[in-house]
Amino acid sequence: MKILLLGKTGQVGWELNRTLLTLGDLVALDYPEIDLASAESIRGVVRRVKPNLIINATAYTDVDKAESEPDLAMAINGTGPGILAEEAKRLDAALIHYSTDYVFDGTKGAPYTEEDEPNPINVYGETKLAGERAVQDVGGAYLIFRTSWVYSLRRPCFVTKVLKWAREQETLRIVDDQISSPTWARTLAEATAQVIAQGRGEPVAYLREKRGVYHLAGGGSCSRYEWAKAILELDPSRQKQSLKEILPARSLDFPTPAKRPMISLLNVDKIQKVFSLAIAGWEEGLRLLFDGS
Ligand SMILES: NC(=O)c1ccc[n+]([C@@H]2O[C@H](COP(=O)([O-])OP(=O)(O)OC[C@H]3O[C@@H](n4cnc5c(N)ncnc54)[C@H](OP(=O)(O)O)[C@@H]3O)[C@@H](O)[C@H]2O)c1
Repeated sequence: MKILLLGKTGQVGWELNRTLLTLGDLVALDYPEIDLASAESIRGVVRRVKPNLIINATAYTDVDKAESEPDLAMAINGTGPGILAEEAKRLDAALIHYSTDYVFDGTKGAPYTEEDEPNPINVYGETKLAGERAVQDVGGAYLIFRTSWVYSLRRPCFVTKVLKWAREQETLRIVDDQISSPTWARTLAEATAQVIAQGRGEPVAYLREKRGVYHLAGGGSCSRYEWAKAILELDPSRQKQSLKEILPARSLDFPTPAKRPMISLLNVDKIQKVFSLAIAGWEEGLRLLFDGS
């Protein structure tokens, strides 16, 4: 099986690049070898590589910047995935694509299932939803994994920011009204690999049979404040922290260009049932990150 992985240096892509090696002949690329904002670039790469399976871990992920660059965000997150899906279908290949809890408005007050109607409240969420719909409209063999609050130590993210702030400041104020589930990039990559492995060399037929949207995130839930506290407690270099106190705050206290959904927690029952996956709690992922990275 020939696998084309896009976004190999991103948080999820980096983990996929090492996890997928045993599953087939892996071609891993990133910008500028492929530009998701260019139909010509996408078509050129896919037609040259001729994969059986495409995994798209690329995205425009800067939620605030997307507010001032909506066209670029839409090209990468909304239009590009649709072209990838068309190219996959043309080759009779399968496509695995990632999306986000930010397709929801966060007002449900309970974990979102795959049946809940998306209603994004920022540009990033709108573009990611457009990408989902473009892939679904093509209707080939696809899986869309919606995930939330992705972290790793490889690129700037909430975890690396909290560790940095704790070494520079004595007081930290973190919002406690945004609730979701932190997801270690490696957890996502490993779950993706387990799903592919279940296809036993026939990924297209298998993924076509299972095609659809799945929620895939760390188990359980927390606020950003609780997440930050857990990060600081598990920090293996705690002695380097200058922090004396961490205080809860409200999102309203920190105005940002993009609005965030308040409770965007994803219900992960479907993926666990369909693929017999056991999803570990979010704290477990954080513990493993600090133990093993
Ligand atoms: N991060 C989160 O908290 C989060 C939450 C929910 C869902 N997700 C979704 O999970 C997936 C993986 O996210 P991640 O956190 O791993 O993202 P990431 O670390 O930001 O990586 C994104 C990758 O996409 C590449 N990229 C950006 N623009 C591109 C373009 N025009 N053409 C080709 N590649 C381009 C980036 O390359 P450069 O390094 O060159 O920019 C980078 O390698 C995405 O679908 C994202 O929407 C993420």
